[in-house]
Amino acid sequence: MALNPALKGKLKTAEEAAALINNGEIIGISGFTGAAYPKAVTPALAKRGEKLRAEGVDFGISLYTGASVGDECDGVLARAGIMKMRLPYQSHTDVRNSINKGTTEYLDLHLSHSARMIRMGFIPKPTLAIVEACELTADGKIYLTGCGGNTPTYLETADRVIIELNSHYGDTLIGTHDLFIPQLGGDIPIHASTDKIGKEFVQINPEKIVAIVETNLADSLKPFAAPDEDSNAIAAYILEFLAHERKRGRLPEGVPYQSGVGNVANAVLGTMARDPKQEPVSLYTEVIQDSVFDILEADKLVIASGASVSYSIAGQEKYKANAHAKNWKSKFILRPQEISNNPEVIRRLGVISMNTALEADIFGNVNSTHVNGSRMMNGIGGSGDFARNCLLGFFMTPSVAKGGKISAFVPMVSHTDHTEHDTMIFVSEQGLADLRGLAPIKRAKLIIEKCAHPTYRPLLQEYLDYGIKHSLALHTPHTLEKAFDFHKRLIETGSMV
Ligand code: COA
Repeated sequence: MALNPALKGKLKTAEEAAALINNGEIIGISGFTGAAYPKAVTPALAKRGEKLRAEGVDFGISLYTGASVGDECDGVLARAGIMKMRLPYQSHTDVRNSINKGTTEYLDLHLSHSARMIRMGFIPKPTLAIVEACELTADGKIYLTGCGGNTPTYLETADRVIIELNSHYGDTLIGTHDLFIPQLGGDIPIHASTDKIGKEFVQINPEKIVAIVETNLADSLKPFAAPDEDSNAIAAYILEFLAHERKRGRLPEGVPYQSGVGNVANAVLGTMARDPKQEPVSLYTEVIQDSVFDILEADKLVIASGASVSYSIAGQEKYKANAHAKNWKSKFILRPQEISNNPEVIRRLGVISMNTALEADIFGNVNSTHVNGSRMMNGIGGSGDFARNCLLGFFMTPSVAKGGKISAFVPMVSHTDHTEHDTMIFVSEQGLADLRGLAPIKRAKLIIEKCAHPTYRPLLQEYLDYGIKHSLALHTPHTLEKAFDFHKRLIETGSMV
């Protein structure tokens, strides 16, 4: 990875690179679900911003990413008080707090939408890109680390580029990328999860590079906890249902899976890996997590196609050890998020989609983002890209949160991310409700019977019965004066019961 002399002249320390960043800068960075984000320049920027603000100088930036990024970006910039604006997804406590305090403006976007919106100029283009790379050539070929994300668009649209040249992954990710920017009216010719249609690198004019900062830093992702009882129960319901669908001839062989982030997703993939009857698995997903190793080691992985590899520290070492030795490299394709999450491709391939809901209502609308309708949790992420366009879609959630004080199933969601038209199958540790082909009252009965916690079933049934008697119409029998009683009780008494 020896740098050519022309590039060597651009080597700077993180502090020198951070000094090139101006007040009001719109910064587009690499990074997606805790992988491949800058780790040196952003902490230096946070320190500089904090110092300037302490001296009474106004200093703030907008931060565009692929999705959530580590503390070295989101945490430090939010705590320094210089993150004025953020898009399109985050999951960091300090950013969340800053958004909910009103200090950071947040554009919560479908992950497949943001790059095109920026290229079209609907959203201001980044003025600066900070991108983590594992290799860089004198003619401006940039080989990315563990994510496609929105990076190709940020590199294309920003006037100035800072590269963090990270040797952590060595050459183990080179060749895993398939980078393609779709054009208006153009095709995205992916007909199988294994198809590659783009380049292994992003080509830019090297004159745009204003600084190169060398690093050797891991993505700081925590190890995943072993799946809990609820996650295992949800996974078991999903796999039993899929086996049933296969028997009925409604599940074509080889359709790929998308699984959201977190425990349940890991439990589903882990259970698949252990099941001797499980067919080979293709992933056409957004985030590839450690659970992929179980499938790889069980020799059941056809391909893992996604926007990023979000491995724990131990997972990163495991991947590096096997990338060449066992040719694991050939099992991964990293794409820009507008391709990994592209509605056209998701629908064409017939993806089976699994995402987690914060709350759902008895008619099948889903809130993925806002606690009590106003407090931002993380964002919609890619859940909408997949939910609306998949072949089969699951929304999963434990039936209660906060020790039973909150029911995940409510009369009416306090915020809607996925409408009843975009949802099919709900699963909690209590059971599974397949809503396909059912009109609203039948959907409500099934959700109450199969998914709601026994404590909340009578309350939900009471709401439905009352609606059937008193609502203005019987298609979707809501009674608006009572629709938020669960939430009101939670605010007033600390519990929905
Ligand atoms: N009201 C208030 N809080 C709730 C709640 C509700 N209805 N349901 C869950 N919570 C709380 C939990 O208690 C937990 O709190 P804690 O962090 O203080 O322990 C927190 O929300 C997270 O819930 P958890 O059950 O641990 O699930 P999770 O980590 O899988 O997160 C979502 C659930 C919905 C927040 C998360 O999946 C998400 O952000 N989804 C939207 C984006 C998405 O789907 N991305 C994947 C697309 S590929």
